[in-house]
Amino acid sequence: MNQQFAVIGNPIEQSRSPELHQTFAQKTGIHLNYVKRLAAPDAFKTSVEAFFAQGGRGMNVTVPFKEEAFALCDVLTERAKIAKAVNTLWRENDQLYGDNTDGQGLVAAMTALGWPLKNSQILIIGAGGATRGVIYPLAQAGARKIVIANRTLSRAEQLVQDLQQAVPQTTLQAMALNELSGNFDLVINATSASLTGEALVLPESLSFHYAYEMAYGKASSFLDQAKARGVKYADGYGMLVGQAIESFSIWHGVKPELQDFLD
Ligand code: ATR
Repeated sequence: MNQQFAVIGNPIEQSRSPELHQTFAQKTGIHLNYVKRLAAPDAFKTSVEAFFAQGGRGMNVTVPFKEEAFALCDVLTERAKIAKAVNTLWRENDQLYGDNTDGQGLVAAMTALGWPLKNSQILIIGAGGATRGVIYPLAQAGARKIVIANRTLSRAEQLVQDLQQAVPQTTLQAMALNELSGNFDLVINATSASLTGEALVLPESLSFHYAYEMAYGKASSFLDQAKARGVKYADGYGMLVGQAIESFSIWHGVKPELQDFLD
């Protein structure tokens, strides 16, 4: 029987993970089954346990269960500990392992685009789970300074306080969204504004050369403004493929080339 994999979430219909993993499998000559698994809000733990009890090899975790997955794991990678969220599960020696590949997916996507991260000054808009998940990988990729701008300033300040110790080579700084200004190499939209169709206004006092929207397949006022300014920009598709490649490589020990899936 083929190895069994699944992505668990609620809702789950929209997930692109099965097709991505099947495509990687075809390309690398691996045989697997990868299905979508819908869990009721209070049934995440039982669903994960049932999947692995039935011989499942690995799972991806999506909204709203990434924090619950983090809490469920016996063993966590460093980046999952810092993210406080897990998107990749597997079992080893009767223990549940968890990693978070989202941040590395973002770094891989921007690297594939040729965007320079070393010594960069980065502005991240938003201070939720999406931002928490990418700080450490961006710091590891060489970011010199990361400013976190949020509508609710206290959340950005809390994130800086929580994470500064984990990234001693990178200066973290909090900023209120209504005071956005400064010169940055790169701006990342990690808010859920595009998901809910809300506008995000980038003032003239803010300048940047590259703009990355973490959302994918949605109208984005953030990207519209980046296009109008003539800077380089990308939506979250590369990050989506990048995190899937990282998960695939954990489970199978083979890493498909991101560039092959970006056109
Ligand atoms: P996620 O886990 O996807 O990051 P989250 O924890 O709900 O989701 O965080 C959503 C982020 O988007 C927050 O930073 C939120 O700002 P607040 O902390 O002030 O709520 C931000 N956000 C959502 N809608 C926004 C909007 N219309 N304008 C600006 N920021 C917005």
